Amino acid sequence: MNFVKVLVAFCATLVAPLSYAGSHVDGAMPTVLITGANRGIGFEFVKQYAELGWNVIATCRNPAGADELNAVAVANDNVVVERLDLLDHAGIDALAEQYSGQSVDVLLNNAGLMRGPDRGQMVGTIDYDEFDRFYKINAAGPLKVSEAFYPNVKAGDLKIMAALTTGTGNKGIPVPGFSLYKTSKAALDAIQKEIAIRWKRQGIKVVTLLPGRVLTHGEEDSPGINAVDVEDSVSGMIDVLDVLTIEQTGQTIQWDGELIE
Ligand SMILES: NC(=O)c1ccc[n+]([C@@H]2O[C@H](COP(=O)([O-])OP(=O)(O)OC[C@H]3O[C@@H](n4cnc5c(N)ncnc54)[C@H](OP(=O)(O)O)[C@@H]3O)[C@@H](O)[C@H]2O)c1
Repeated sequence: MNFVKVLVAFCATLVAPLSYAGSHVDGAMPTVLITGANRGIGFEFVKQYAELGWNVIATCRNPAGADELNAVAVANDNVVVERLDLLDHAGIDALAEQYSGQSVDVLLNNAGLMRGPDRGQMVGTIDYDEFDRFYKINAAGPLKVSEAFYPNVKAGDLKIMAALTTGTGNKGIPVPGFSLYKTSKAALDAIQKEIAIRWKRQGIKVVTLLPGRVLTHGEEDSPGINAVDVEDSVSGMIDVLDVLTIEQTGQTIQWDGELIE
């Protein structure tokens, strides 16, 4: 069923206008695969890429409960919803097999376990079951997704692998108690650099993105938080990806284009 939908969306793109991000010279629309697409920043990526006319493979761990995402897919022929749980490596391989032979221009490792501050994440009272969970979801999971979909990205025109991270130094969370979140994302940062080295010769552009402080959990904005609207953060990151070059592979870039490292 989803294959049919992707095929129909692809055919529709052949007559679509050319004014979109990452346009192809041959007029075909690019494809983006997004993890954690059911809510927050991932969901906003789905809406904005869909609006741009891209083919969107929107993945989440529980499609049956993803009401808002399913509504977007019903309203947009270029959006398909698939199950992808970062803890389920066999499931990731099965999804990659399902899309075997289909190119993915942008692989967006957006999903993550973001929580804190809590006792189990505070040095001195670390919960090591939670340690495993954070590192499996935030570090091993995105790496597995990149490995599984490498042939799809390599076959794409844009060849981009992006992952969302949190900042370090003065761009980071300046308080204790988010230790598992912060350090598992630091592991992800290192993994992205490793992928960049590994697949540079294949033309894969690997980037780590900082979305800024986006209030996706119903938090209140207040002085000092400097929150960014989710719409601005995502459109900024799309702009960053749109002009990415192979010389930039391995970089960490903030949503507004600022080079972090
Ligand atoms: N918001 C910020 O200020 C901020 C700042 C820096 C970095 N980031 C990063 O940006 C990304 C998106 O942030 P957000 O604010 O949109 O987060 P969010 O609202 O907490 O959403 C997290 C997403 O990840 C999914 N997810 C969690 N565990 C998963 C698993 N095992 N397999 C697949 N998906 C899983 C969630 O799915 P469920 O709905 O099923 O739980 C959800 O779709 C995250 O990687 C986060 O660390 C965010």
